[in-house]
Amino acid sequence: MSQPTLLVLYGSQTGTAQDTAHRIVRQAQRRRLQVQVMPLDDYNVSNLISESLVVFVCATTGQGDPPDNMKNFWRFLFRKSLPVGSLSRLDCAVLGLGDSSYPKFNFVAKKLHKRLQHLGASLLLPVGLADEQHDLGSDAVIDLWLTSFWEKAFALYPHLADVIPLSEDEPLPPMYTFHFLEDVTEKVDERQRIPTEQTVHSQSYPFPARLIFNRRVTDLSHFQDVRHIEFDITGSNIEFAAGDVVNMRPCNTKEDVQQFCQLLRLDPEARFILRATGLLCFTRLPQPCTVNYLVENYLDIAAVPRRSFFELLSTFATNELERDKLVEFSSAAGQNELYTYCNRPRRTALEVLVDFPHTTAELNVDYLLDLFPEIQPRSFSIASSLQAHPHRLQILVAVVQYKTKLYKPRRGLCSTWLASLDPAQGEVFVPLWVKKGSLKFPKEKDTPVIMVGPGTGVAPFRSALQERVAEGKTVNILFFGCRSESKDFYFRSEWEEMMERGHLNLFTAFSRDQEEKVYVQHRVRENAQLLWDLIANKSACFYIAGSAKQMPASVGDALKEVFQQEGGLSAEEAEQMFMAMEKTGRLQSETWS
Ligand code: 2AM
Repeated sequence: MSQPTLLVLYGSQTGTAQDTAHRIVRQAQRRRLQVQVMPLDDYNVSNLISESLVVFVCATTGQGDPPDNMKNFWRFLFRKSLPVGSLSRLDCAVLGLGDSSYPKFNFVAKKLHKRLQHLGASLLLPVGLADEQHDLGSDAVIDLWLTSFWEKAFALYPHLADVIPLSEDEPLPPMYTFHFLEDVTEKVDERQRIPTEQTVHSQSYPFPARLIFNRRVTDLSHFQDVRHIEFDITGSNIEFAAGDVVNMRPCNTKEDVQQFCQLLRLDPEARFILRATGLLCFTRLPQPCTVNYLVENYLDIAAVPRRSFFELLSTFATNELERDKLVEFSSAAGQNELYTYCNRPRRTALEVLVDFPHTTAELNVDYLLDLFPEIQPRSFSIASSLQAHPHRLQILVAVVQYKTKLYKPRRGLCSTWLASLDPAQGEVFVPLWVKKGSLKFPKEKDTPVIMVGPGTGVAPFRSALQERVAEGKTVNILFFGCRSESKDFYFRSEWEEMMERGHLNLFTAFSRDQEEKVYVQHRVRENAQLLWDLIANKSACFYIAGSAKQMPASVGDALKEVFQQEGGLSAEEAEQMFMAMEKTGRLQSETWS
């Protein structure tokens, strides 16, 4: 019987499913199986009919949606024209990664499992349902599922059971080997591939958009730096509507890059090419590439590392103390300890390297791409409309900074990087791509919209307002909340102009300009009569956007009170009306943390 190649295909939004896919790859390698791994959208799906053994590892995002790097696959797989039975030669299994605090828990994995079955594939075991709500529980579910998977796979290929697996002490080969170039005169082209005009810009082909401005919109005395940023998208063919989002990948800071190179004794200017060692996987790195480019643009050294990082790091440790600690962090029993050391204080991978100096000094460069995942893209609600700002795309970004028990404050990688970009210092290009967002605004001219967007939650509503004003849609209500009228009331003059022209009815809640806190939900309650009239008699749509802590739930509660007070509904009826509005898309929210 021939040796099957195991294909591991993943759909990953934040990198967890990717990490899990690579964990399966390592287990396969230890079992001396041939294995390939890639994101679903990099895989030519028409080849699926000739595969023998495939594991799908899929996350579920947002409201039950597939991650961005499996969207094309998803569309293809659900085509009506695909004949039932077309996958009858395929043995496969589906492992889902979801979050049980969302209603459609692991929806993508469950649906994929059913669809594959429908197309005739043999599903070796029930769909695995890992839950990211429970960091430790999730690992346990995956471990159990994988044990069962290997049993089933080996039952299919009994001759594999005779193979002596690689022992845990033997290192696995790296995904790539680095070949440093002696010839320093050879030119390295590190620009992003600039696509032709017809290209649809995506994660694989972002559009290098020129930064036009980057303005602070909060008073200098305000605790938070919030940026209004504009990009030039001329020539990109990028189109978007209100509610859509833009994606980009941040870079590591110059200081972090420098520190990393020093710790690993790497010359930032050194150039290398990568050679795959057999495992087929995808990298968007240019070839040849400099160490500096690799560390600045690619390796996620500023993220909190995962357990797999400690697993691999421990294999390099020769110092006994360091090795014991790393082995503990890699073990199932050490997960609480690891959480306290890393996740709770948000310690970065780079800081971990500093804490384990002996091991870091012994790291083999070839393993860099195994140790550090690629920097993940970040999404922002688009804050402008093409109708008001043709060829431009604007965002509103709060620069994230907070304290943990660690001495150095924690900084959001993307917002800090964006804030640092200065077009006055020379042209700056940011590779970006847009995607449909979850907020949809009504096409009908006379449907009123009520939008509640405190803080940067106002971003998608600025886009909607610009679009609606350009289209002559005039019943627009905005509830905006911030701390102080004089410090963080962004876009004030724009709102005032819209109000003067009769395009906008604005209600503000300045939470800290008086003794008692005043929030947007208080303003919603105060305007119960107006809101009820618009919703009950004029079919208004209601939107909430902003930080996902308490605000969305509190605004929802205020709205239900409006239904009770003005509509005379019971609490239960108000709840039903609320849910019915959600179901029909008349009540939508976009929240972020
Ligand atoms: P605070 O910081 O004074 O508590 C934008 O961040 C605005 O949202 C600020 O005025 C902030 O007020 C307010 N905010 C904080 N928590 C909120 C909540 N649970 N509901 C509504 N608004 C809130």
